[in-house]
Amino acid sequence: MITVSLKHDRGTTPIWIGAGALEQRADELRDWCRSRTTFLISSQTVLDLHGERLTRLLADTTRLVALSVPDGEAAKSVEQAAVLWNAMLDNGGKRDSRVLALGGGSVGDLAGFVAGTFLRGIEVVQIPTTLLAQVDASVGGKTGVDLAGGKNTVGVFLQPRAVVADTELLATLPQRELRSGLVEAIKKGAVLDRGLFEATERSIDRLLQKDGHALADVVAAAVRAKAAVVESDPYEKAQRKLLNFGHTLAHAIEAELGYSELKHGEAVAHGMLFALRLGATRGWGGELSDRLPSLLARLEIPELPASLEVEALTSAMARDKKARESGITWVLARSLGVGELVNDLEPALVAAELDTFLADG
Ligand SMILES: NC(=O)c1ccc[n+]([C@@H]2O[C@H](COP(=O)([O-])OP(=O)(O)OC[C@H]3O[C@@H](n4cnc5c(N)ncnc54)[C@H](O)[C@@H]3O)[C@@H](O)[C@H]2O)c1
Ligand SMILES: [Zn+2]
Repeated sequence: MITVSLKHDRGTTPIWIGAGALEQRADELRDWCRSRTTFLISSQTVLDLHGERLTRLLADTTRLVALSVPDGEAAKSVEQAAVLWNAMLDNGGKRDSRVLALGGGSVGDLAGFVAGTFLRGIEVVQIPTTLLAQVDASVGGKTGVDLAGGKNTVGVFLQPRAVVADTELLATLPQRELRSGLVEAIKKGAVLDRGLFEATERSIDRLLQKDGHALADVVAAAVRAKAAVVESDPYEKAQRKLLNFGHTLAHAIEAELGYSELKHGEAVAHGMLFALRLGATRGWGGELSDRLPSLLARLEIPELPASLEVEALTSAMARDKKARESGITWVLARSLGVGELVNDLEPALVAAELDTFLADG
């Protein structure tokens, strides 16, 4: 098992990574929730697959109250948060109650938000069950829900007490979700960490076959890269924005398609290819210009629907919460492993590039 530590202004969050991490850290988990009420927030799908393993682990230690929310992005609403707040209150939730988030990034973002706001904040442990949540969403303390007008528009920063990224949980993950998660690992390699990018390239066959060692290695490398950035810039004033590589267009695509047709990682893959194209207008990209598209091709990302239009996407990008009054900050790749924030891209240039990008398919 590998431990990565993330230091923040409230202490240190250990991130335990590897096959069987849950059992190996059972004592710590039991101590953390002993003799209190623990709200296990998950979806029915994930509870059916992995709930019993957790229940067995915590048996006789805590009063476990399972609360299930819808699968996928549908979990991330103010309405779902309110259902949970009320259920927690009705079930005797107190300032020292605990939240265990068991699921993908959607469950983690919602459960983190609910924990961060219930009685002004109670502790949460994240147990990510998708590759995307293990390499990205469970680490760094961003939580939140969506409004009709935009994704992740309401939320708080709350660093989890711990993260248990047990790669055995990925055994039941559908292949399409696995690929979507790999995109977020590749993203970090592309703009932050050449070594991570190249390791993913080298082991892509084994990763696609869910080889346990390959998965644990890529999760650990991706978590290290993310933890380093979050430590240097916890509230996303500068450096942490590099993690948004590919996300400006991705969030617009997701908003336009209603979060259904494409997985988050799939939208990010298209967003990264578009960011490469924008970078190329400045002569940037270097070897990434070939290697990123080749690596992403291995993931068989579905094409963008023909219904997407330049105008709708550009206005969705302008509405995105990451846009400032002064305009959109783009994350571009200067070269492999080196991202850069850019504030001076002309909207007309972006629109023209997007037009050809959509036409090229
Ligand atoms: N907070 C952050 O820093 C951050 C970072 C990246 C992404 N995110 C968010 O994460 C969300 C996407 O998360 P996701 O990709 O994990 O998707 P998800 O949470 O929507 O889960 C996808 C599907 O996988 C199923 N599933 C989960 N674990 C499973 C398992 N072990 N076996 C079988 N099926 C399983 C779920 O039931 C669901 O249907 C987005 O809302 C995104 O905004 C947050
Ligand atoms: Zn993402």
